[in-house]
Amino acid sequence: ATYQATASAPVNIACIKYWGKRNTKLILPTNSSLSVTLDQDHLRSTTSSRADASFEKDRLWLNGKEEEIERDGRLWVCIDALRKWRQEMEQADSGLDKISAYHVHFASHNNFPTAAGLASSASGLAALVASLSHLYSLPQTPSQLSLVARQGSGSACRSLFGGYVAWRMGEKEDGSDSLAEEVASREHWPEMHALICVVSDAKKGTSSTSGMQRTVQTSPLLQHRIKEVVPGRMDDISKAIREKDFESFAKITMRDSNSFHAVCLDTEPPIFYLNDVSRSVIAVVEELNRAAGKPIAAYTFDAGPNAVIYTLEENMPKVLNLINRFFPQEASFANPFKMDWQSAQV
Ligand code: DP6
Repeated sequence: ATYQATASAPVNIACIKYWGKRNTKLILPTNSSLSVTLDQDHLRSTTSSRADASFEKDRLWLNGKEEEIERDGRLWVCIDALRKWRQEMEQADSGLDKISAYHVHFASHNNFPTAAGLASSASGLAALVASLSHLYSLPQTPSQLSLVARQGSGSACRSLFGGYVAWRMGEKEDGSDSLAEEVASREHWPEMHALICVVSDAKKGTSSTSGMQRTVQTSPLLQHRIKEVVPGRMDDISKAIREKDFESFAKITMRDSNSFHAVCLDTEPPIFYLNDVSRSVIAVVEELNRAAGKPIAAYTFDAGPNAVIYTLEENMPKVLNLINRFFPQEASFANPFKMDWQSAQV
């Protein structure tokens, strides 16, 4: 018999950035982080898992191309953890099919162009963990599954939830309290929209994984960020979300993006993720907010030059207009909650 399950997980974009690990094997972060998960309908990964007695080894195809599942690698660790949970279930209940003994084939697809330079590891790993946990009918909660997804890629643990999600750094050495939890559902503040401005689709120079370890090893500014800055911001942005206070949400989001890029610059040798177009997006949003007399849009940048602009639905036409006017050449944007992928020119 063949057993099969499929699951999807959307991309998430952090407002309080994860940057730095205190344990690289278990992927335990140096600070807590908080993100907004984009809409299921738009930027997402879908993974099918299939277990069959005739399969000779675990295999993975990413957008149709086979990828090696390295022993003790991140993916392997995730599969192994879920398989162990299934084994425990089978040992406790002899009526269950012994599918933990079967090898599994995974097929994973992104519904957005991989060439768009958008992080796909978070949604990809989250979809894989979700689909294998369905296949195994695991009783674990999304927060418990986030412990596994975290070991695939840190930011992936946040994509197991929709809406507004915190990844609590935790304190324990074994990582059992370093997990994701919902801060507020998408429905709590559905007016929140995000515009994804693809500034460049080139592959980034320094990967998050290696860049953040260099920052941990060399940046004194990171120590200030993780101890003095982020804890207060986690509280403040959670309150802003609960109270639907866009001004505070926007201020904290922009400042935290800038703080993250500052620690990249404080790294030796320095890491530059923003380019001239990224900096122009910052200037345009700052000017929009100045003219409005209060923040009505917030930019944030991950480990690359692409901008994500958060704004409330009522202000999206204004933001779109401005972006299209100032960046008329080449852009793709996506709205997490309602709009489709559109090709616009930034
Ligand atoms: C800048 O989750 O990709 O996007 O844990 O090494 O896989 P690994 O790193 P990853 O780092 C994401 C960094 C970030 C900020 C964020 O998403 O919080």
